[in-house]
Amino acid sequence: MDKIEINGGNRLAGEVRISGAKNAALPLLASSILVNGVTEFTNVPDLMDIRSIKLLLEDLGATCEDGDGRVRIDGSGINKVEAAYDLVRKMRASILVLGPLLARFGHARVSLPGGCAIGARPVDMHLKGLEALGATIEIEHGYIDARVDRLIGNEVYFDLPTVTGTENLMMTATLATGTTVLRNCAREPEILALADALNRMGADVKGAGTAVITINGVEALKPATVEVIPDRIEAGTFMVAAAATGGDVQVLGCDPENMGGIINKLRQTGASVEIFDQGVRVKGDRGIVSTDIKTLPYPGFPTDMQAQFMVLMTIAQGNSVIHETIFENRFMHVNELQRMGADITVSGGNYARVRGVANLSGAEVMASDLRASASLVIAGLVARGVTTIHRVYHIDRGYEALEKKFSALGADIKRIR
Ligand code: EPU
Repeated sequence: MDKIEINGGNRLAGEVRISGAKNAALPLLASSILVNGVTEFTNVPDLMDIRSIKLLLEDLGATCEDGDGRVRIDGSGINKVEAAYDLVRKMRASILVLGPLLARFGHARVSLPGGCAIGARPVDMHLKGLEALGATIEIEHGYIDARVDRLIGNEVYFDLPTVTGTENLMMTATLATGTTVLRNCAREPEILALADALNRMGADVKGAGTAVITINGVEALKPATVEVIPDRIEAGTFMVAAAATGGDVQVLGCDPENMGGIINKLRQTGASVEIFDQGVRVKGDRGIVSTDIKTLPYPGFPTDMQAQFMVLMTIAQGNSVIHETIFENRFMHVNELQRMGADITVSGGNYARVRGVANLSGAEVMASDLRASASLVIAGLVARGVTTIHRVYHIDRGYEALEKKFSALGADIKRIR
């Protein structure tokens, strides 16, 4: 199994170009199921999770051609409506095929995703929403079996703003009869990007990016070409790494408009964040001061940046409290950071008190989920000595060419096979 080895202490400097967003690309690729023809996506990152959804689409009968960040999916050959356990267990976002399959074929069978390392992650709101549009849902033998003769537009109120739940319902409602109004929707930029893509395919979706999304159903969607938006979490990860190493890094091709929560917090730590036409420049040469963090749905501070920010707080002056409100088990990096000398106490399950220390020291550590792994990379970059990160397949799920990008910024980082 691959490992990543980092000899810490180098200050990052230079330019890094941000890839397409994993969490935008996944629903976009799933939306190709809605089209009886070829949909083309550009700026698609080369990641394990993207390979997983392509495998799933191919298993359903679609044809995928790709190269150079371009993926062409021909959904005309889809002849199966079952997303098997083996594919779904590798990636929970496979649940995103449920709505599109149901909308196009009137039947979908998708393995029920189990809990995952970061929490229970139920999909009850996806299912209640589909039922509101007329679907009958049964859970049998570990599968969600959804059937409908005709989807009819309706009001759907989400108890919590769920990202993939909002995306699933939005895609389904594009082919329903009449109008669907989704309330208390998630407002993440990836949802707006999906709505824009669906509209290019001929759908009528309004209000995405706000809490209320209205979808007027249409007869069919048509082929289109769609560009994947930049990955705000990858950008944020490089920005934090720049600040943590006292570096000077230009993060190119990101969209600062979508990163207000991250930029605001970085500035509170004393880092300089300058926005310019090609992206952001982060300088961390003034020392880091502590700040408190509470994760919230967008436009609040993203849970997907909590672990990386925690590393910054471990070497800050002062104490900070980090409150994780989205997932119940998203502090798995804490034990590993403690092994590197961080002073962190977890209380009540979702509060971490971090007392800044002068230095972290390199150690052998274990990656447990995607963003926790990214935090261990940043910790390795700032620590004295060598850090070896095991189970890097978690990183490969969501960061394209991570070690190459960090090497180009001056980090001493390599993959060991
Ligand atoms: N929830 C329910 N019932 C549901 C759906 C969600 O109770 O039916 C709860 C969840 O347990 C959680 C909260 O609602 O407490 C929000 O979860 P959400 O549904 O928004 O998460 P998700 O759609 O499964 C996406 C991202 C995650 C990201 C979260 C939160 C994708 C493919 N995944 O997950 O990304 O952390 O939103 O922003 O978009 C990652 O990239 O590392 C990652 C985990």
